[in-house]
Amino acid sequence: MSSKSTYFIANWKMNGSPKDLIQIKNLDFFIKNRFKKHNKLIVYCPPQPLIAYFAKKIRSKNIKFGSQDVSNNNFAFGAFTGEVSSHILKNSGAEYVIIGHSEKRLAGDNYNTIKQKINNANQNKLKIIFCIGESLKENKNKNSLLILKKQILASLEKGLNFKNILFAYEPVWSIGTGIIPSQSYLIKVFSELKKILIRHYSVKSPKLLYGGSVNAQNIQSLKMIPNCNGYLIGGASLTSKNFIDIIQNYYS
Ligand code: 13P
Repeated sequence: MSSKSTYFIANWKMNGSPKDLIQIKNLDFFIKNRFKKHNKLIVYCPPQPLIAYFAKKIRSKNIKFGSQDVSNNNFAFGAFTGEVSSHILKNSGAEYVIIGHSEKRLAGDNYNTIKQKINNANQNKLKIIFCIGESLKENKNKNSLLILKKQILASLEKGLNFKNILFAYEPVWSIGTGIIPSQSYLIKVFSELKKILIRHYSVKSPKLLYGGSVNAQNIQSLKMIPNCNGYLIGGASLTSKNFIDIIQNYYS
């Protein structure tokens, strides 16, 4: 594979406990011993209460931590019950944050809150994993590219530090379903995303990720997609065995 870094990002969603430190330790041990020569970046995004705990216990240059969300309030601290600011995340050991995941959009995130979250994270120098993706209906109506463009243009302002943004294409119909898009479809989407990002933001080499039902089997075909810089992995990232199998098959 190419010498560019490949991202393997674990989105644990609402799963995990302090006991799962062992999963991360297993993965760290394995890649230290077996994958030293590969240029990969592993990011774990557990539920927020576990970030500081894991980040303190895992001191590894191979593994970074991220949050699955961030407050849209532009304050470091304040009277915002239940909210977690970019500033607090950074101090807890998070370097990354997922923003715009379809599950958060379903729970109330909209173009505007997503824009605010991105701006806050950008100001606080968190690396942003910006999720976009069309629904099954939008896909069936052949509106995918239109929707993706809208999601990008409605939430990304021009002055952002684009070096710190990863674009995760996660078709909603692929998340948790075991169904992945065809290679030709992904190639088309990625090349269109590149065109949008260069035309509207002058981003020449955006980092593009794929997410949705990634597993140890389908990584064999997903790794063939040109311009794909990595993967955002849900269910198959929960155990070190499945996560390691994906990385191993990617490099085999
Ligand atoms: P699955 O890998 O479980 O389909 O989840 C994908 C996802 O939503 C990652 O953010």
